Amino acid sequence: MSETGRRLTFEVFRYNPQDPDSKPHMQTFEIEEVPYMSLFMALNEIRETLDPSLQFDFACRSAICGSCGMMVNGQPALGCRTQTSDLPDVVRLHPLPVFKLVGDLSVDTGIWFREMAEKSEAWIHAEKAFDPQAQEDRMDDDLAQKIYDSDRCIECGCCVASCGVANVNAEFAGPAGLNRIARFAMDPRDTRDDDEWFEVISNENGVFGCIGMMACHDVCPKELPLLEVYAYLRRKALSTAL
Ligand code: SF4
Ligand code: SF4
Ligand code: FES
Repeated sequence: MSETGRRLTFEVFRYNPQDPDSKPHMQTFEIEEVPYMSLFMALNEIRETLDPSLQFDFACRSAICGSCGMMVNGQPALGCRTQTSDLPDVVRLHPLPVFKLVGDLSVDTGIWFREMAEKSEAWIHAEKAFDPQAQEDRMDDDLAQKIYDSDRCIECGCCVASCGVANVNAEFAGPAGLNRIARFAMDPRDTRDDDEWFEVISNENGVFGCIGMMACHDVCPKELPLLEVYAYLRRKALSTAL
């Protein structure tokens, strides 16, 4: 149930990397909370009534597009899915770390996700030519469900921002990257052999770089089964090493 009548204080990170005169600092805004207010609504209110220059990203407003990730009182979260009624009176907002800062709360997750997909060659490697007349490949229901679960990732970057390893090692595949690798490693249509998978998974930038504290699992807004994904990749890494 949303609270009403509260005056909310937002301490918001401000910095425009395009402006040589801009210096990183925090700016404070105060607004009235309204029933069922999301962080998206609160930031819109601030932009419309207090500061039109405030930068932040939203598109779908329903946890689908992945564009509204930000640090909310130190935790990565989707702005559109966060209710102000679940937050204290003072809310500190920062952009997600790891990703390129566009300005204020806006980051470019696309560059990171594209580089990760290119490095891990996150697409089906098939040897047979596409035949539009052929019947669809059959797949076991449980396996299809696991692949579908991995494909539910909306590339919001919350898991990457929460990951201590991804924060210090730019080459680490990161939780979303490991999930993406697993999605193709599981797919029977992908014909990469053990040696090729070994190169992708079995080093400190792959699953052996993960220290397993599961911060990523706790913050994923889509509740992806990341624990199972890493266990699968570790088994795959060990089997390819034998
Ligand atoms: S469990 Fe692994 S991938 Fe997830 S946050 Fe920890 S180190 Fe990063
Ligand atoms: S795994 Fe979850 S937290 Fe990470 S990018 Fe995908 S949806 Fe976001
Ligand atoms: S606005 Fe699309 S996920 Fe939040």
